[in-house]
Amino acid sequence: MDRQTEIRLIKEVVELHENGDKQFHDSTETHTIDRYVSEDWFKRETQLIFQQMPAAIATANEVPNIGDYVSLDWINGLPLLMVRDKDDQVRVYANVCRHRNARLVATGSSGCKRRFSCPYHAWTYSSEGKLIAAPEFESGFSDLNKDELNLIEFDSRVINGMVFIHPDPEQKLPDDFLHEEMALGFKYLDLENQRVYARRDYVIKANWKILAEGGIEAYHFNVAHKDTLAPFFLGNLSTWESWGPYMRMILPKKPLLEARDLNEDQWDMRQMANVIYNLPPGMLLLAQPDNISLIKMVPLAPGETRIEEVLLVNPPKNGSDDWSEEERKIHEKNHYLVNHILTEDWVLGETIQANMESGIVKEIHFGRFESALTEFHRRYEEDMRL
Ligand code: FES
Ligand SMILES: [Fe+2]
Repeated sequence: MDRQTEIRLIKEVVELHENGDKQFHDSTETHTIDRYVSEDWFKRETQLIFQQMPAAIATANEVPNIGDYVSLDWINGLPLLMVRDKDDQVRVYANVCRHRNARLVATGSSGCKRRFSCPYHAWTYSSEGKLIAAPEFESGFSDLNKDELNLIEFDSRVINGMVFIHPDPEQKLPDDFLHEEMALGFKYLDLENQRVYARRDYVIKANWKILAEGGIEAYHFNVAHKDTLAPFFLGNLSTWESWGPYMRMILPKKPLLEARDLNEDQWDMRQMANVIYNLPPGMLLLAQPDNISLIKMVPLAPGETRIEEVLLVNPPKNGSDDWSEEERKIHEKNHYLVNHILTEDWVLGETIQANMESGIVKEIHFGRFESALTEFHRRYEEDMRL
């Protein structure tokens, strides 16, 4: 967001707070629980959303140097391999050998390689995805054309530091799929210069939407996060805007109320609020003052989601390769806190899923002030062609 937008949004939140107002939807919204538990629903979601929509999968700085790679997961168990090639371009391949489908690098691994050699029979690919060597190829595979056995590549684009792919390797990303305001948001967060501080992944037994929903409402702050977030935030207050499926949400903190006593040039959204960018399907960016959490939700089943979480922080202040002890202390503390707060959400998510699967209560309701959830589902239904 630009400076004008930042000021407009701070004014908007101060006004909402002063008037005891909220960003209301016209009515309460009710949905059946099918969309969280049904196998058929999940299949449809996989086909129409996760295999069709442009997807944010990572930041380019997760592979900062030539030869760097990271393995990532996508829907249907599709493993991705993101690489920075010898021309400094980020490229995304299926992490699948063209010989007999073995995984080239282990899931969750990262590192730096000039070439990728399959652990099964050593078919070897360059960072440009080309099959460059295969033992005894000429005698064993003489009727195959080596040039047609390069890695499967996904059309990808780096937009101000965020990497998007089209999940269907046969299709290209449309030119204008991302609204400029979202692209500006990545600039605002300085994504291009952030460094990976920590990475972790794990599986939560809950539908991905339950987990995403917790990221775009503040109604639960005073209750579910009463000892962690609640002391610092303005309770059930938030404001959001959306562009197509993409959404930016502002979750104001108590210092935002001091804005009235400060000159506008002292207003700083990153200090006064958490900013969330929701990039369906499955990616949430949570910007706090000193760090950004990338939370990627990869659905495995209606009631199971793999979370790939990356903590991004500013590069070391003194220009060296590593953070000072003092900086590390701050990042460690923040890392612990983020994990702690997310765990509060995930534990709730798992109980919600289990209860939904019991089928005892067949509906859920979004309150008028949970309007971002209503919008999220309105757009979701559009993409699901409901
Ligand atoms: S499966 Fe990769 S070399 Fe055989
Ligand atoms: Fe939460």
